[in-house]
Amino acid sequence: MDRKDIRKIAVFTSGGDAPGMNAAIRAVVRTAAYNKLHVYGIQRGYEGMISGQIDRMERRDVANIMQRGGTILRTARSEEFRTPEGRKQAYNHLRAHDIDACVAIGGDGTFTGASIFSEEYDIPFIGVPGTIDNDIFGTDYTIGFDTAVNTAIEAVDKIRDTANSHNRLFFVEVMGRHSGYIALYTAIGSGASSVLIPEAKTNLEDLREVLRRNRARGKLFSVVIVAEGHEMGGAAGIAAQIEGDMELASMEPKVTVIGHLQRGGSPTAADRLLASQLGHGAVNLLLDGKENVAVGMVNHQLTCCSLHDAISKSKIPPEKLVEMASILAI
Ligand code: F6P
Repeated sequence: MDRKDIRKIAVFTSGGDAPGMNAAIRAVVRTAAYNKLHVYGIQRGYEGMISGQIDRMERRDVANIMQRGGTILRTARSEEFRTPEGRKQAYNHLRAHDIDACVAIGGDGTFTGASIFSEEYDIPFIGVPGTIDNDIFGTDYTIGFDTAVNTAIEAVDKIRDTANSHNRLFFVEVMGRHSGYIALYTAIGSGASSVLIPEAKTNLEDLREVLRRNRARGKLFSVVIVAEGHEMGGAAGIAAQIEGDMELASMEPKVTVIGHLQRGGSPTAADRLLASQLGHGAVNLLLDGKENVAVGMVNHQLTCCSLHDAISKSKIPPEKLVEMASILAI
């Protein structure tokens, strides 16, 4: 599609909300307005596309939202969009509004929906990676990851106070359904004793050994960060596995699940900047005639890859960082 063919675009957020999504919406709306495009906001992601909740957005509609968590367009995980009937209805609504292209802000589920839709219909999509999990290929970081890690580190700092005062062993679970990025960065940033992620095999005996060794060396408390998606059932699963160890049991093991706290709150400066760059970049990609790609930031350079690659290629935490985390915890 040529630049001259794009006159009206729609923007929406879908899947789990992530801090910085509002900054991305703002960047899309303002960059489009600057280029004399009409912008429409779709409420609740693919759900709103199916039900026709599509409204015109002006430059001023995105004033004063940069600092707000969540998403002003709201979000949903749509089951109906997985069906051909749902996608047909969505297409009809986009056509009724003369939408020429869409900007989809979200994670792998959002990109999968966009990829399937773009194979069936002639409306191009640009994906903007927004998820706290940081598990999207084609970008070093996703919108919301930095804020989520900062929130998790702040929580672990507080837990350490209690762990220290009571000589306790804490298993702290952070989000990441299939991804250990939040866990790894939180562990490094909070100086945790150990980190357990889905991407690396866990040897329970090694973990017990580390905890016993720490105790023998006079370390009176330990904090272990566990990714939600860990194969042994998150922090509760790991805690149950070491229950029988008398020495460690004397440290009164406790489980804390930080949960959705990590999804909310005002975005960090890094997330605001990343979201602004990716939102701005997404509209420029459309104007350059790009279709069905995901925008990303790699080595501080704006880049893009196909939506297909973004969802099918895996992105896992660098082994070097995993190794470093355990070296720094000795
Ligand atoms: O994908 C982001 C994420 O926060 C995951 O880390 C988590 O497993 C999931 O969403 C939770 O989703 P929901 O809020 O729908 O339960």
